[in-house]
Amino acid sequence: MLFVQKSALNNSQYTADMTAKNKKKKPWGGRFATPTDEFVECFTESVSYDQRLALVDIKGSIAHAEMLAHVGVLSKQDIRKIVRGLKAIEKDIRQGKFRWDPALEDVHMNIESALIKRIGEVGKKLHTGRSRNDQVATDIRLYLRAEIQSIRQLLSEVMTALVDLAEKETETIMPGFTHMQTAQPVTFGHHLLAWFEMLYRDSLRLADCRTRVNVLPLGSGALAGTSYPIDRAYTAKLLGFPAVTENSLDAVSDRDFAVEFCHCAALVMMHLSRFSEELVLWMSQQFAFIELDDAWCTGSSIMPQKKNPDIAELVRGKTGRLYGHLMSLLTLMKAQPLAYNRDNQEDKLALFDAIDTVKQCLLAYRGMIPGIRVRNEAMLTAAGQGYITATDLADYLVRKQVPFRDAHAVVGRAVRYAIGQSKDLSELSLKELQQFSKKIGKDVFDCLSLEGSVAARDHVGGTAPKQVRQAIRRARKRLIKIMVEDGEG
Ligand code: ARG
Repeated sequence: MLFVQKSALNNSQYTADMTAKNKKKKPWGGRFATPTDEFVECFTESVSYDQRLALVDIKGSIAHAEMLAHVGVLSKQDIRKIVRGLKAIEKDIRQGKFRWDPALEDVHMNIESALIKRIGEVGKKLHTGRSRNDQVATDIRLYLRAEIQSIRQLLSEVMTALVDLAEKETETIMPGFTHMQTAQPVTFGHHLLAWFEMLYRDSLRLADCRTRVNVLPLGSGALAGTSYPIDRAYTAKLLGFPAVTENSLDAVSDRDFAVEFCHCAALVMMHLSRFSEELVLWMSQQFAFIELDDAWCTGSSIMPQKKNPDIAELVRGKTGRLYGHLMSLLTLMKAQPLAYNRDNQEDKLALFDAIDTVKQCLLAYRGMIPGIRVRNEAMLTAAGQGYITATDLADYLVRKQVPFRDAHAVVGRAVRYAIGQSKDLSELSLKELQQFSKKIGKDVFDCLSLEGSVAARDHVGGTAPKQVRQAIRRARKRLIKIMVEDGEG
């Protein structure tokens, strides 16, 4: 977002800059008789936002240059100068000394002309056998594949925070809900592990998406390939791509990998928005299940008593941005004829903001989760309401040979009676309970207790504390596996 705002702010400054620079010769200016209209310069520039590709652009250029030397298209001497020049430019960029010129359109032409300015004629050879079309496709893939790994790293950290908290809450009983109505008791550890599972799938999805991002388009030229005897496998090896794209027309034009990434990121946000919704509810005075750390909440300018869960609300709100970016990229690609079209320049705005937003929200969760203070008493009290162990009573009758459907009806009548008495099922006497079924004995009270109810769900995927502890052990192992595989990948 910071990025988009900066771009918008810079536009007026660019207009002024451009008046002076308008007459400057464009790298593609040869066939043009009149200078570019000032508005057109402003309208077509992308350097205000694609400058964030600068470092990967240089990395790609160095690999391309080295490949050209490897196949003998350029001399080793020329390449040494080009590489040295590019590295000096990289240093300038890192130190914030590089002057981006909107008249030079994009990050690619800015760097190329800086190179020519710096090393002279030989710099003009860098673009041999390459087009900005395969160059930008390469840059985006290089950039995105690294960002996917940072996002997965953040996901792992959030998952670790969830497992750590779950470990403290394996015995904590809370009401589980369906339709937001009290349903059956669950342990809070179990509830937290549900969030773990969602984020775990998100991480796997991103890893899978990365395999399709991680393919080298360079060598596709503008659209048809190049007439030089290039060695694409060599470039791929230098850049750490396990494969090269198979078809030049496809490689320069499609952005399905960016759409796919936005889909994965939108799912991360969808999950975080669900989590956020629960945190907001649980922080309310009506639930009072949790307390968030003061440092992770904000106040009200008018109501002195307020402590608001704004971080969770903002994450919930930002989810809409991700859905929007996904839709915008799908629409950007819709009906585009082969091959490259300038429409594609717009891919970066959506993609970059998607990356930034999902990272920010994961950072927010990484920071917020360890500060969740659980109000066990409130959770337990809430779990004791709403006839939450009614299913357990039905299951008890089934164990006494009552068919489940009949047991369901018996318990329904018992609940209706208890509501009339303003009592919970566990507060009814044995005699009262026996009005509804003779099969009920005094052992019934074990299954009417909250602890008995959760402990009974003792199977893989169930809420029993014993199962939750085992699930935590498995979760930690799965996290380690992800991290080890990432280290290797
Ligand atoms: N800046 C462009 C983009 O982001 C890349 C340049 C392609 N321009 C062209 N005239 N072929 O897609």
